Amino acid sequence: MIRRSSEHGDDFAWVRDTAIEVYLPFGDYRTIIPAWMVYPGVLTFLECDDASGERRGFVLVGFYEPTDLPRGSYAADLIAIGVAPAHQAHGVGTRLLGYAIDFATLAGERALVPDLRLTVAETNLGAQRMFTRAGFAVLDGEHGFYDAGQRAIRMRRPLAPR
Ligand SMILES: CC(C)(COP(=O)(O)OP(=O)(O)OC[C@H]1O[C@@H](n2cnc3c(N)ncnc32)[C@H](O)[C@@H]1OP(=O)(O)O)[C@@H](O)C(=O)NCCC(=O)NCCS
Repeated sequence: MIRRSSEHGDDFAWVRDTAIEVYLPFGDYRTIIPAWMVYPGVLTFLECDDASGERRGFVLVGFYEPTDLPRGSYAADLIAIGVAPAHQAHGVGTRLLGYAIDFATLAGERALVPDLRLTVAETNLGAQRMFTRAGFAVLDGEHGFYDAGQRAIRMRRPLAPR
């Protein structure tokens, strides 16, 4: 099951703590993810076990106006995606990614949202495989650096109008 996360309380703490853990190779995310979760227009979704409700993964999606698109167009931004280590490699990330793509496509019914974008570390080949399989391609191969030094790659996936 995928549901909206609360911006406070247990959900908030779970996303913050899980993000700190899974993003450790890329830097210190103690304040970054909590700040994004309460940023206007950013939505956080949780993937949970249907029976027990246990949280297994999260995704944050927002929208912004990029300089390379015509005025009035928005890019959907997959700000963060993470799966708790005990639940990785069981399809949770793929499910959350599909949900984010559907959600961004739905937003395209109300506004011009031609694509969904994300940033991934050059060394994070597993995540890159997941994104490529879902239709993402490299937009900018030199998109700065993560705090821990990895080169950042920007990827985009076109969103089909519904
Ligand atoms: C990347 C991540 C979100 C994928 O979620 P997941 O539930 O583990 O992935 P799935 O089971 O749906 O498998 C999809 C792909 O993810 C990749 N993957 C799986 N486990 C992974 C791991 N421990 N680390 C990195 N990538 C992994 C694999 O490429 C896998 O495809 P494959 O089996 O064909 O190789 C998850 O592993 C994770 O949270 N990693 C740490 C945080 C991170 O790197 N986030 C992405 C930053 S942009």
